Amino acid sequence: MMSLRTHMRDFDENNITAAVIDRYKNTPDPRLKQIMTSLVQHLHDFVRDVEPTEAEWGKAIDFLTRTGKLCTDKRQEFILLSDTLGVSMLVDAINHRFSKDATESTVMGPFYVQNPPDAAFGADIRGGAQGDPLYIDGSILSEDGQPVADAIIDVWHSNAEGFYDVQLPEAEEPTLRARFHSDAQGRFRFWTIMPKFYPIPDDGTVGEMLKASARHPFRPAHVHFMIVADGHETLVTHVFVDGDQYLDSDAVFAVKNSLIRDFTREAPGVAPDGRKIDTHWRKLHTDFVLSKTAANRAATEQSRAREQAVS
Ligand code: BEZ
Ligand code: FE
Repeated sequence: MMSLRTHMRDFDENNITAAVIDRYKNTPDPRLKQIMTSLVQHLHDFVRDVEPTEAEWGKAIDFLTRTGKLCTDKRQEFILLSDTLGVSMLVDAINHRFSKDATESTVMGPFYVQNPPDAAFGADIRGGAQGDPLYIDGSILSEDGQPVADAIIDVWHSNAEGFYDVQLPEAEEPTLRARFHSDAQGRFRFWTIMPKFYPIPDDGTVGEMLKASARHPFRPAHVHFMIVADGHETLVTHVFVDGDQYLDSDAVFAVKNSLIRDFTREAPGVAPDGRKIDTHWRKLHTDFVLSKTAANRAATEQSRAREQAVS
């Protein structure tokens, strides 16, 4: 049998993993202990699988160093790396095992801005942006089909060239982003312009990785929504424009069939809100169904049981 002394010194390909994991045996936080154990196991297995040369390992360290250096309060290259490796969508899937009736979630992306400007029911959020007018309406519903009043609905999307306002040096005012509130019947509606497909920021290390792997950086056209409502899980999602050429090759793996919508082409005429429109325009009707929080679901079940007991 190997002596403890030998075991603690003579590390090789076969025993180093167990030795490193053993070093975490006194970690007080059991979750941290589980995470570190799994990280070391998988990282070592990866290295054993790939057998990197020292030059390759140096290149990997340099890549990660440069990725970190690109991160500022305006740019998060590590999140982009997580997005393009499919990790963001995996984390999203694991954390949103909610009601099967609820609208599916997808990645947040880097272009959300906290506390967007409040906009009135029916407002036009295009600001100075040019493009095909788009009318969007729908309802916010709970998983049992009940309308959700006064939900906070944050909306953001790209312009007709595929850029977000935060990417445009000349943009002084927030455009193509706003905060709405659902009305007493859970409804919302607003005007904007059609978004376009666009490349994720590809002038950094993530772009290098995509190019070296013959991967393109494009995301299909979409409109982002974040919906917050009392008693419900927050929904972060987007709706995708049916027919977009990148639906099957989204650079960040965020497309779900249930989120693809028909943005119908409409002739000049009168829109559902009574607006007269003398150009062609597009229309999207889309409801969002929110998952109840566990506490809300339990409360609903309790009151149902009480009603049944009384009747
Ligand atoms: C976005 O949709 O805004 C986005 C998501 C992930 C990475 C880059 C952009
Ligand atoms: Fe986006």
